Amino acid sequence: MANAKITGTGSYLPKEIRTNKGFESMIDTTDEWIYARTGIKQRHVIADSETCSSMAEIAATQALEAAGISASEIDLIIIGTSSPDRVFPSTACILQDKLGVGDCAAFDVQAACSGFIYGLGIANQFIRAGGAKKALVIGSEANSRILDMSDRSTCVIFGDGAGAVVLESSEEEGVLSTHLHSDGSHQDVLYINNPIAGQKQDGEQAYMTMLGNDVYKVAVKTLGRIVDETLDANGMQKSDVDWLIPHQANIRIIASVAKKLNMPMEKVILTIEEQGNTSAASIPLALDKAVRDGRIKQGQTVLMEAFGGGFVWGSALVKM
Ligand code: ACO
Repeated sequence: MANAKITGTGSYLPKEIRTNKGFESMIDTTDEWIYARTGIKQRHVIADSETCSSMAEIAATQALEAAGISASEIDLIIIGTSSPDRVFPSTACILQDKLGVGDCAAFDVQAACSGFIYGLGIANQFIRAGGAKKALVIGSEANSRILDMSDRSTCVIFGDGAGAVVLESSEEEGVLSTHLHSDGSHQDVLYINNPIAGQKQDGEQAYMTMLGNDVYKVAVKTLGRIVDETLDANGMQKSDVDWLIPHQANIRIIASVAKKLNMPMEKVILTIEEQGNTSAASIPLALDKAVRDGRIKQGQTVLMEAFGGGFVWGSALVKM
């Protein structure tokens, strides 16, 4: 059976940066509170002229260049997003048109902050089963468009951006395993209400609502468990993992997973300070950064993990 290998990465961050200080004049908050509670100093904010698909296009183009293949060779596009251009067509279809990819399977995955891991898991199964040879897997989020800018419990946390990988059928080892989970009984803890007009209450807006503390407690426990599940499935020890790429939700959640792995923070790829929580985009953004700056090298083993609204959570163990 073929393996699915990451052969190229790419990313995009909008130009505008909003610092914690910038929020102090907008809402009742401080730089100190935000940094101490989350590890965030600033985040990138999408321009009016940009969309989820336009950010995905730039990230995907970089990933294709890095892989040394053309868009026309792609036979599967999956975008993890909760902030798509439209309800339908999918942002993946819009991207297919923008990139000039011919007929192929293209769809979005809505798994909140776990969207990229879900996309990677699905693309891995496609490739292993022979259903695709070259896939684009992307996380792209225009989070600013789903935030209530007067809600201090959410608006300071999230940022915008996109990250992409090319996943190719290969004889070499690549994605070693993925582990996808959900528990919909937590649906009222982190959600965005229905944007469909006929189902809206009067005056209702499609903004994110999060009971952060409840999310925090479950995330720490759940992500600790998934580390064991992933290593056990591969008969590996903690020391076999070279790098941890966590979803960048909160530096304290990240540190607790690193501790579970006995991993020093130097081996954890962090972007949260400069990028905030970019939801489904955070893992591919961090991966691209660490590949391009030379930290992550060919042959190394990378553990990726994410947790988000649903709840949905998952992990991927990848040989680069
Ligand atoms: N500035 C100042 N004070 C604030 C702010 C703010 N921006 N936001 C909330 N507060 C206040 C609260 O009102 C509360 O005040 P009170 O004690 O007077 O009621 C106090 O700070 C503490 O609030 P908590 O929510 O208990 O703060 P906590 O320490 O839990 O930190 C945070 C909040 C950062 C959101 C944290 O809970 C967290 O990171 N949770 C996990 C988020 C996550 O992982 N989400 C999943 C991915 S997102 C997705 O799927 C889309």
